[in-house]
Amino acid sequence: MKTNQQFIATCPLYCEDLLKTEIEGFGGKNINTHHGAVHFEGNLLTAYGTCLWSRIANTVLYPLAGFDAASRDELYEKLLNIPFFEHFSVEKTFAIRSHVSDTFFSNPNIANLVVKDAIADSFRNRMNKRPSVDPTRPDIRLTFYMKSEKATISLELSSESMYRRAYRTQGVEAPLKENVAAAVLLRAEWEQISRHQGVLVDLMCGSGTFAIEALFIAADIAPGLLRKSARMKNWNGHDTELWDSLVKEAEQRREAGLSKKLSKIIAFDNDPEAVDAAYQNTLAAKVEKYIQIVPKDFRDAIAPKSEAKPKGLVVANPPYGERLGDKSTVGYIYQDIGRTLFDKYQNYNAAILTGDKELARKVGLRANRLNTLYNGNIRCTLAHFNIREENEFRMSGKNIQ
Ligand SMILES: C[S@@+](CC[C@H](N)C(=O)[O-])C[C@H]1O[C@@H](n2cnc3c(N)ncnc32)[C@H](O)[C@@H]1O
Repeated sequence: MKTNQQFIATCPLYCEDLLKTEIEGFGGKNINTHHGAVHFEGNLLTAYGTCLWSRIANTVLYPLAGFDAASRDELYEKLLNIPFFEHFSVEKTFAIRSHVSDTFFSNPNIANLVVKDAIADSFRNRMNKRPSVDPTRPDIRLTFYMKSEKATISLELSSESMYRRAYRTQGVEAPLKENVAAAVLLRAEWEQISRHQGVLVDLMCGSGTFAIEALFIAADIAPGLLRKSARMKNWNGHDTELWDSLVKEAEQRREAGLSKKLSKIIAFDNDPEAVDAAYQNTLAAKVEKYIQIVPKDFRDAIAPKSEAKPKGLVVANPPYGERLGDKSTVGYIYQDIGRTLFDKYQNYNAAILTGDKELARKVGLRANRLNTLYNGNIRCTLAHFNIREENEFRMSGKNIQ
């Protein structure tokens, strides 16, 4: 492979800048951000580094070809001429994921069929044999993008969706995606806070996503380390030695990270099922020794002592009233969060993620920054607070514009 190959990493909306920073760290060059995607140049080390270490990416793609097509027939002909056989063996199963807009395809399923036929026919023309399709657990997955007449076909190097870190064995209602939780923590500067031994408190941890992702960040643990499958292993261009050496290095960094003095991480929830799920997930992530899960209502919990400045970071992803609870009844939770933060967490920073700006207002503290994030298809506000005496608590806070 050339040293300056093009790659694309996809990510949740509004996280493109975070992913760009990660990719710069993995040696990516000429990085351009798009809507939910980051295009970059690099070598296999950059691409594999992104697959193993990105906390934000959803997938890492290796584009095989980009071209214009004004009709279905033209698209089919152009795909037929791509040497797919150079990239995977006819014995491997494959599947297509299509994203189409403003084209002659009325929906992505029809695009899937056309692309699948062209790929299978390109093999048949060459070797008289077609690879099989496996829509659920393919050896090779290709992503087809088409907007107007511009098409790109790419091979997915990463396994499935990278937000799945393989530790969520137990779910709760309305869990956060792991990469969205990591984005919240990075936006709230948890990396810097944890470097100074600040404490992390999740007021309502659900399945424990913030706590586990926070530990992964603090202890330098690669988010892809637990995933068993790496789809690039089925690709003809795969460099086994390089991948294995990266995994080995990540294992050593994990061990070194866990053996240093780490920030205290505490997660509360008042639902015993959530507490159990969070504990099971810390076990699956092999970090149960480093995270305290406490079955408690956040209002009754005592804030941990801390010498750090700020003392730490308090995070919460309370019910939004969309999926859990009801908007009119969840408002009081936000007021109680504001009151609790002001009374018990002076000199902490806080980051509250909510699906409704009105609910963020109910926290009643002056937010010093706001970000937008998507949790699934819910547009969320992430409100950041510095809990200091001067940021007085007001019952009907009108401080978020
Ligand atoms: C939206 S879920 C959090 C999901 C979590 N971020 C995850 O990734 O799984 C909200 C959680 O708040 C918890 N909760 C609600 N009221 C609470 C309270 N007063 N004290 C502690 N936890 C509470 C619920 O049990 C639920 O697990």
